[in-house]
Amino acid sequence: MLRYVTTNEGKIREAEEYLEEVAAVDYDYPEIQADSMRTIAAEGARAAYRHVEAPVVVDDAGLFLEGFDGFPGPYSSYVEDTLGVERVGRLAREEDATRAWFRCVVAYCDGDGFEATPEPVDTDDRRGRNLSADDRGAAATDDAVAEGALPVRLFAGSVPGRIVEPRGEDGFGYDPIFEHDGRTMAEMSPAEKNAVSHRGRALASFAEWFVDREP
Ligand code: IMP
Repeated sequence: MLRYVTTNEGKIREAEEYLEEVAAVDYDYPEIQADSMRTIAAEGARAAYRHVEAPVVVDDAGLFLEGFDGFPGPYSSYVEDTLGVERVGRLAREEDATRAWFRCVVAYCDGDGFEATPEPVDTDDRRGRNLSADDRGAAATDDAVAEGALPVRLFAGSVPGRIVEPRGEDGFGYDPIFEHDGRTMAEMSPAEKNAVSHRGRALASFAEWFVDREP
């Protein structure tokens, strides 16, 4: 059975909608520090697979503020723990840098290889084939990190939004300050969030691919 490896229950609630046969594994795999969420997610999936020894999915997500050149991006977790969500929100509003994106990379590893696909993000990232110039650096880093590494398949999703004063009780992380189409993600049920969210989009393309992958 597929294992979703995370210590975040919010991610599991959202993933369950897309993956019927999925078990949550509460394992805090070592998260490497890197400038690319692809690299972080890929290395996380390998670590999770080594631990669980069964097909695994992990996801890495983050908040990207356009006016702050994408900050906090891959460092979103560290910034949530240090500055905190409300202060990030206040900073963005004070600096008039409220245009934002949530991005998510879902990474799958089962110890076997995959056929490369034309889309960079769906390509086995070890080989760095079909990558844009921007992504080549990330692939190279990943090569260095994971020489002879297990193949990982990546699926990305993103959603635009606006940073607002915190509203809503649902969701987790930066959801209360991230407004999309008039509601913050914390004002949406998991199903409503999935329908528009970065994770929902990444999971939808993963689920579509995984249907054919399953024996
Ligand atoms: P990670 O993907 O668990 O590394 O999360 C990185 C950071 O982004 C953490 O601070 C999470 O709380 C936050 N985060 C991840 N996914 C979401 C989301 O869907 N909504 C809001 N915050 C998120």
